Formats: sequence, structure tokens, C-alpha cells
Amino acid sequence: MTIHTPVSRITIADLQRRTNAGEKWSMITAYDALTAAIFDEAGIPALLVGDSAAMVVYGYPTTVPVTIDELIPLVKAVVRGSHRAMVIADLPFGSYQASIQQALETSAAFMKDGGAHAIKLEGGASVLPQVEALSNAGVPVIAHVGLTPQSVHVLGGYRVQGRGEKGDVLLRDVKALESAGAVGVVLEAIPAELAAKVSEQLTIPTIGIGAGSATDAQVIVWQDLVGLTPDPAPKFVRRYANIRADITQAAESWRRDVEDGSFPSADESYR
Ligand code: KIV
Repeated sequence: MTIHTPVSRITIADLQRRTNAGEKWSMITAYDALTAAIFDEAGIPALLVGDSAAMVVYGYPTTVPVTIDELIPLVKAVVRGSHRAMVIADLPFGSYQASIQQALETSAAFMKDGGAHAIKLEGGASVLPQVEALSNAGVPVIAHVGLTPQSVHVLGGYRVQGRGEKGDVLLRDVKALESAGAVGVVLEAIPAELAAKVSEQLTIPTIGIGAGSATDAQVIVWQDLVGLTPDPAPKFVRRYANIRADITQAAESWRRDVEDGSFPSADESYR
């Protein structure tokens, strides 16, 4: 007997269709069930469990230290919290660069144990064998080029990438990634003009962060979007709320009410 369960989630094929039709789309990071549900209900079609969790969840100084074991529970939570969005898991530093075998095992863990629908990994020419093998094995792979935070110690900081002749290398790399089977590519912190050229020359969706307005999609870290991360925000961030100030005000008011005895009131107590 064959059982076909309907796929109710958005798939990479849906996002490719939107790109082909010239419709822009959005991707946002998520690391827990509650916010995943909010972003899902807001109609955002793709949720990225980014290795930025290293900083915004775990408090590490960079994305380098975060591990598979720390990220998989977050992926599970985001999958449980959402119903419609495609969930993409970021492969952490050191979990895919060593070999094709390592990349396959890590991706399998994120998909089988975590429940992710696609993975993302950083790098250009150096990860082509991994991208090809994963794609052939049925793993939707989103590549990530430009500013690749896992290489921050080689890049010497969080700087704009792909200026001048380096733009030609990036263009060559992304074309090779597409040929190797990548289903999308994140372009981080590159000149808008270069991102426009890449988007024009690729068929797969380009997903920009600090890459101007010509990419097919945009991705953002949610804490940046709502002003939970402290100022100053990077140049490419538009704050849509000021949650950090709201939470600070709420916490201070509650602390004062506890200290002066005005919380809880009789109405807030059981009889
Ligand atoms: O880890 C992350 O959140 C990312 C996005 C910034 C693209 O890679």
C-alpha cells in the first residue's frame, strides 16, 4: 500500500515559481516555537534557523563555536511551531567542510532528527563537491556567499565583500554553485550593483542581506528587525519596532511594583 501524505508546507519549488514570476519573497530567522508561529502567521514563507543563534541565543561572540547539538533542538522547535513555512537549517562551522561524507551526515541529522526541509552552508568554490553530493542525495541546499560569518577570522571582521575584482570571483562561484545543484543563494554584505548582476545571471533565487534591492528575496535576523539587538544596527537593517526598549520598560516597571508591594493586587491573586 502506498500512502501519500499531502505536503502542506511551502517548498523550494514554490519559492522558485515566485522568483520566476518576478515576485519578491522574504525569509526570517527563527530559533523557537513561539516566534516561528508568529512569523508563519505573518505569511513569511521561509524560516531560517541560522547559526546566528550562536550570538542571539547562546551568547557566543561569533558563529564559530555553535555546534550541531546546540542547533538541532532549535530546528525542532521551529518546525513544531510552524505549519506553512519552509524551515531551513544552517550547518554550523566545522560540520561540513571536512568532506562530502561529513556534509551528508550533518545534513541528514538536521533533516531526519531536526525535521528541516533544506539546509544552508557557507562558501564558494571550496564547497562545490559538498553542494553537488548533497543535491544528488536529495538535500535542498542554499549556498551563502559574500560576507560569510563563519570565516570572520579570515575575513578580518564583518566587512563588505566582493568589491572590485573580487566581484568577478563571486560571480563565478555562484554560477558554479547553481550548476552544482544549489536551490538558492544568500548574498550577504556585497555591493548592490554586484547583487543585481548575480540576480540577473542566476535562475535560482538570490536572497539578500545587505545586498541592495535587486535580489529575489530578502533575509533578516528577527531580533534586528524588531529592535531587540542593541544599537547601532548594521546599515542594512530597518527597525520595524523597538522591542528592547519595551521589554526594558516592562521589566523595570514590574520590578518597581514588586519592590513597593503594588504587584500582585487582590484581583491578580486567587481566593
Ligand atoms: O545565521 C544567519 O542568521 C544567517 C543570515 C544572516 C543569512 O546566515
